[in-house]
Amino acid sequence: MTTKLTITKPDDWHLHLRDGDALNTTVAFSARQFQRAIVMPNLAQPIINTELALAYRQRILHASPSGSSFQPLMTLYLTDNTSANDIQQASLCEHIYAAKLYPAGATTNSSNGVTDINKLTDVLHAMQKHRLPLLVHAEVTDSDIDIFDREQVFIDRHLSFIRRQFPELRIVLEHATTQQAIAFVNAHDNTAATLTPQHLLLNRNDLLAGGIRPHNYCLPILKRESHRQALLQAATSGNPKFFLGTDSAPHTMQAKETACGCAGCFTAHAAIELYAEVFESENALDKLEAFSSFYGADFYQLPRNKEKITLVKTLWQAPASFPMNDQALIPFRQDIALQWAVQASD
Ligand code: DOR
Ligand code: ZN
Repeated sequence: MTTKLTITKPDDWHLHLRDGDALNTTVAFSARQFQRAIVMPNLAQPIINTELALAYRQRILHASPSGSSFQPLMTLYLTDNTSANDIQQASLCEHIYAAKLYPAGATTNSSNGVTDINKLTDVLHAMQKHRLPLLVHAEVTDSDIDIFDREQVFIDRHLSFIRRQFPELRIVLEHATTQQAIAFVNAHDNTAATLTPQHLLLNRNDLLAGGIRPHNYCLPILKRESHRQALLQAATSGNPKFFLGTDSAPHTMQAKETACGCAGCFTAHAAIELYAEVFESENALDKLEAFSSFYGADFYQLPRNKEKITLVKTLWQAPASFPMNDQALIPFRQDIALQWAVQASD
């Protein structure tokens, strides 16, 4: 049995750090294990242009632990008003790596998102031309579409069309949750997907059976077990189209444990450890390094990291909560022993 594993330092290709005082909590968790992270732009005031992205990057760096080499890779938030010029400007900025499509109303802070994807033609054309990857929250928001079907309907109605119209555009289907998403990614060039620890570890029973568990509520919502099996297969297959993106999404306990709670699992306190647990359960620890440290960098056309980290098999329990914004942040799986730990570097 493997009890110690040294891998190239991983990157997180989908991360929410929030802003303001929260950065003093969130950044250090990711910097502990990840060299780089694609930082999501869905702040209360979304990151809609290069200037805002650069200012946000400075705030993140300012909150990074001293001596840390953590690199935030910034993204733009697409709105109905994003122009081809905004895209060109972003593509010329060395700190911006992608733009994110949130359908309006799909998730946290998405009210400024895109209301009509058909109006994005000029923007997507510019992204293809300037080689800026498109990151997609692939869910429709129509109230008549069942929440468990929103991802596959988005793929059928919108993503297939975008894929056909812009064949050279690199697209990441973020936090894939269904077998339809896996099949779509497999079927198309220039198309990849991130996979989260919560969607690999849990199915919808973990959210709803025997009592509602708000800390397992995220979007896209957890699906049935057969979908989770498809994600596990994709993650551990050694297929470079699938790579690590935690979607770690901190909300305070007060915002989650309430009548209308926020979506998001905070996994950054133990992200690579949770993935190690997934890969071990599938007898695929030998595939963890490429999934976590190679395929994302390759897709973004960035160099692979040089540093290493070591994981050791050991049982430990996350604290009941962390302080954030003078309130409590409850870590994912707080009530279950974690099985792997990152060894502190000497
Ligand atoms: O669960 C989620 N939380 N899904 C998202 O798409 C957004 C995220 C957040 O920002 O809280
Ligand atoms: Zn996200």
